[in-house]
Parts: sequence; structure tokens; C-alpha cells
Amino acid sequence: MVLIAGSANLDFVVRAKHIPAPGETVLGSDLQTFPGGKGANQAVACARAGGVPVAMALALGRDAYAKVLIASLQSAGVVLHAQAFDDVASGTAFICVSDDAENAITVAPGANTRLLAAHLPALNAYRFLLMQLEIPLSTVLDSARLAHAAGLQVALNAAPAQALSPDLLELVDVLIVNEGELRAISKNQGSILDAMATLPCQSVVVTLGARGAVARQGQGLHYQGGFAVQAVDTTGAGDTFCGVLIAQLAAGQGMPEALQFAGAAAALSCTKPGAQSSIPENSEVQAFLAGRSAAVVSALQSYCEARA
Ligand code: RIB
Repeated sequence: MVLIAGSANLDFVVRAKHIPAPGETVLGSDLQTFPGGKGANQAVACARAGGVPVAMALALGRDAYAKVLIASLQSAGVVLHAQAFDDVASGTAFICVSDDAENAITVAPGANTRLLAAHLPALNAYRFLLMQLEIPLSTVLDSARLAHAAGLQVALNAAPAQALSPDLLELVDVLIVNEGELRAISKNQGSILDAMATLPCQSVVVTLGARGAVARQGQGLHYQGGFAVQAVDTTGAGDTFCGVLIAQLAAGQGMPEALQFAGAAAALSCTKPGAQSSIPENSEVQAFLAGRSAAVVSALQSYCEARA
């Protein structure tokens, strides 16, 4: 069973030709709202991947946004351990999505800043704890300590990027980062493989967008090429990857199989708008994988070996 401790945000999304540069105003589409937040997106991805029960510890305001966020998580089958606060709004995110499917995101964390390790349910029923960095770093560290002591595997998606203490990294069994986050944590300017090798975690998984992903597990390396899709919105693709990867590992799959399934789910999520609204069900990922193959990994390998 997987427990996610993390953020939930209502996403306010506007599409525009391009993401505005500093000082620039662009005219965009009508405003749309979607349930989001890295923690909640990963919980939904984990639940839709199937195979393991999924629960989430989160903090919300007592407001209309919270109702939307709770409904989306519950309809995906996530069991909630929610704290409700009267004096702070639920988390929100302001997202501009460009016509080439990229995004720029600003988060107003609101109630997410109130989540504490003390809000986690009893840990003995769980095999994995999955966290991100949209909740206080002290909560992440305290929760990792509790989970490690209780014998859980600790998984951390270190997003948004920030430097992390060795104390925390030593408690993390599975670290999932993109290239920017890897550089922020490792402070290593060599190749991606060099940077991965500096980290003490048992498994380090680096997502590389359309190129695919690479994982170091102990001394072994696994490459997964990207899947080509017609992308309309990449928001939540990284979260889809994280949630599905941990669901697969928790269900007993090996790292190569988990990387492939997570990569396919993340690619599929780019073909629909929104965060949680775009996360595929297990059956959709299976159908996608039956009809497609990933890009060959030789270019990905060269990219990971090249000095930055
Ligand atoms: O990773 C995408 C998510 O980042 C969005 O859903 C937004 O809420 C922010 O947390």
C-alpha cells in the first residue's frame, strides 16, 4: 500500500500563444480550473495505475476549492487523511500553458504549509511513503524519519527544485527528479550519470522529458526511451510518472518494467489538458503500450554520459 504526503492545489489555467516574458502581457484563452497539486496528482496517478491501495495525507482550507480537490481524489479511489483549516485557503496554482504545450506555474501554497508529520496515519499498513516539496521541508524530513523507522520505502520527488540536506537524502530510498532538480541537489556539473552517482539514495530516477528517463538502482543503470505523442499540455506529466512508477514498484514490478509503464502513462497524460484530468487509467496505458514502442535508447545514453 502507498501513502502520499503532499500538496493539493486548485489549478487556474490560461492557454496563450507563448508564456509571457518578464514584463510582458499576453492575451490568453478563457480561464479553466482543474484539480492539481503535485501530491494530489501523484496520488491520483498511483491509484489509476492500479495494483495497490493508495492513501493521501493532505491539508486543505475549509473552502469551495477543497470540495473540488477532495472529489477528484476520492473519485480516483484515494483514501484521504485530510486536515481542514479555517484560517487559510486551500492551495492554488496559476498556470500559463503555451500552444507548444509547455507551462509556467506559480503556486500559492496556502494550507499545504500546515501539513505536519503528526498528520500521517499509522504507518504499519504501508509499504511506500511518497512525498514532494510543496509541503514544508521540516514535514518531509520528519515524515521520512518516521517512515524509515517503521520500515517503509521512502520515495521523494524533489520538486520544485531546491537543495536538500544529506540528512534527508540518506533517508530516501527512491529519489525522482528532473535534470534541473538533479543539478540543484547534487551541485554536480558533470554528466547526468556523474551527478546521479553523488547521491546516497538506493535508487535515483531522472526524468528527461521527451527523451525518456534513466534510473540508477544500486550499481545498475536502466534506460527508458521516450514515447512520441501529440502533446497539448505537459502539466502533471512528471507527477503522472512519479505516481505510476511508485505504484508499479509497490506492486512488485522491477525497475525496467516500472520505468516503461510510468513513461508511457506520462506521455499519454500530455495528450489531454489539465493535471489530474489528463492522468490515464491502467487499461489506457496497456493499450498504448501494445501499439507503440519507445525511442531507441542510444541517443538517451549519450545524453546522460555527456558532460554538462
Ligand atoms: O506538477 C504540476 C502541478 O504543479 C500543478 O498541478 C500545480 O498545482 C503545481 O503543484
